Amino acid sequence: MILITAALPYVNNVPHLGNIIGCVLSADAFARYCRLKGYECIYVCGTDEYGTATEIKALEEGTTPQEITERYHKIHKEIYEWFGISFDIFGRTTNRHHKEIVQHIFKKIYENGYIIEKEVEQFFDPQANMFLADRYIEGTCPYCGYKGARGDQCEKCGKMLHPEELIEPKSKVSGAAPIKKSTKHLFFDLSKLASALKEWIEKRSVEGFWSENARNVSLWWIKEGLKPRAITRDLKWGVPVPLEGYEGKVFYVWFDAPIGYISITASLTEDWEKWWRGKEVKLYQFMGKDNIPFHTLLFPGMLMATGERWTLVYHINTTEYLNYEGGKFSKSRGVGVFGDDAMKSGIPADVWRYYLFANRPEKADTHFTWDDFYEKTNSELIDNFANLINRVLTFIKRNFGEEFVCRAHNTPFLKEQEEIAKEIEECMEKVKLKEALHKIMHLSKNANRYFQERRVWEVVKEDREEARRIMEELGLQVRDLAILIHPFLPHTSQAILSMMGVGSATWKDMGREFKMRLGEIKPLFKKLEKKEIEEMRKRFGEGEEEVGLEKFDIEVGKIIEVKKHPNADKLYIEKVEMGDGVRQIVSGLVGIYTPAELLWKKVLILKNLKPAKLRGEISEGMLLAAEGKEGVEVLFAEGEVGEKVAVEGKKAAQKEKMVTIGDFKKLDLRVEGGKVVYKGKPLTVNGKEIRTEKVKEGVVR
Ligand code: 2FM
Ligand code: ZN
Repeated sequence: MILITAALPYVNNVPHLGNIIGCVLSADAFARYCRLKGYECIYVCGTDEYGTATEIKALEEGTTPQEITERYHKIHKEIYEWFGISFDIFGRTTNRHHKEIVQHIFKKIYENGYIIEKEVEQFFDPQANMFLADRYIEGTCPYCGYKGARGDQCEKCGKMLHPEELIEPKSKVSGAAPIKKSTKHLFFDLSKLASALKEWIEKRSVEGFWSENARNVSLWWIKEGLKPRAITRDLKWGVPVPLEGYEGKVFYVWFDAPIGYISITASLTEDWEKWWRGKEVKLYQFMGKDNIPFHTLLFPGMLMATGERWTLVYHINTTEYLNYEGGKFSKSRGVGVFGDDAMKSGIPADVWRYYLFANRPEKADTHFTWDDFYEKTNSELIDNFANLINRVLTFIKRNFGEEFVCRAHNTPFLKEQEEIAKEIEECMEKVKLKEALHKIMHLSKNANRYFQERRVWEVVKEDREEARRIMEELGLQVRDLAILIHPFLPHTSQAILSMMGVGSATWKDMGREFKMRLGEIKPLFKKLEKKEIEEMRKRFGEGEEEVGLEKFDIEVGKIIEVKKHPNADKLYIEKVEMGDGVRQIVSGLVGIYTPAELLWKKVLILKNLKPAKLRGEISEGMLLAAEGKEGVEVLFAEGEVGEKVAVEGKKAAQKEKMVTIGDFKKLDLRVEGGKVVYKGKPLTVNGKEIRTEKVKEGVVR
């Protein structure tokens, strides 16, 4: 038995193409494959409706959380239906079973001693009379001076913040200055489960063929030490905490959301326990990479802590991000294609599906670009795939009539194709979707080549029987392709089968004789036109302008003095000798490096950054550091003072113009395998690569 889930989307936004391929669409291909194989399976998803974000959105819009969730649930549902996502149920976490199951799981965890109670001080909005999550407090960033920084992170400079650090904090809800107030919360002590989780992950990640990344991220969290996590909130919109003294509090959304998988299954079938407590079930979960720890540690940890038997994730399937034309999707700025846009585009769902699967961000981020969309659709999907179907069926109908039996022949061509089909099956079993689709296209290309090489249009004039035999092979291929493509392009698969008058087909039918009764043969797709693509590009935004390295003046400097900032306990003030004199730089390295570890070191300085006053001290540039899961590491350089950073041997031309922290953040400068790289190419000073010791993967800030 196979239980398939896609991460439950939050209910306060419209999903974009990246969200769609990241979860529901990927899981759909797998679910469709499982059904074709005849596996007993269900595909469960729904909206994640509780929590602060929904409550605040309702406040902002002057409505109720119920209204917000109704509205967005409907939007999600319509979009997914249009894309042909074949959920067995698309439910909601506000379903009637949810509260009971969440409270049951909580009670068990509580009885088994995994819950700690703590009194904590929290920010409170005295005007709105509510506690505030960190991100609902805004103020001035102590690092870069940006005015709209959020209490959890500064959007401008990217630094992680605590609300305490903000200068002049204000509640985003009412604008009032938040006050501190103490409140009681429950914490789930995951640390008690560390060794059980570690053992389980080590075993499960192998049998469930997790990606390297999913396994590493999970084990890394354990290595860093699992900490008790708050599972309650002072909110109204959520599942009530069934414990004395906790009236008026609800569970944190990440506590109740994964239980949504279970309660939504319960909304589908009375037999839900067979799926969630049975022995034979393999649970396949699809999600974006940022969801990994919740699905490999928190959720399994919660279920383990009940002491009861529950189905734990077997295979976890994660995606990276799909970007839009070199930038990010943004509904508010009108950039990118969102689900509702695709619906109104006039381009069929399967065309979008093809592109999204072909470009699925499996190992690294990928980019949606209109040029690539145009190119892949017209050349791969239409010229290769759709064209094969069309020419084969047309040829058969014209030369042999509407009724045509395709017998299975033992030819080298079919043998070779069968091998590829087997490989496709292996890929599907291991949920390697992009590779499977790639191989399907390969299969179709081979069939096109066979048609061409055998010159059937000539053969049919000389040797009709031989031509019939060739067309039987190709007819068989068309039917098999309709089966193979079904998980990816279900509407197309259906269209092909119905043109051939074949009612339905399953995986087992592949390679087997069948009879076609050809109806009207219509082209499967219309080619995209350049003009149409240009219009779309304009309509959906050009994407953000890419920021190139050449705009940034980065140079080697030597630190000749380090002292602590008089008014900020995280900041040092450094004097740095540069090619053109000494300048003052302020950086947040207290607690990470001692002054002695920095003094006399050569570092990389971003010189043409707009000078800023940080807590009253001027900073004329920025000292570059890498930030990864290992922490923060200054980029020490080996070159001479005044030497510029270059990429790929060439010197990067630097412009005089000043840049902002925001510009720098958009620059894709990162650490990969202990090297600082820009667009995959190493950065150098005087021909030497810039390396890191501690941070192996991360970003440069
Ligand atoms: O990241 C998200 O969109 C979350 N709503 C996913 C929740 S997955 C599950 F645990 F419900
Ligand atoms: Zn900032």
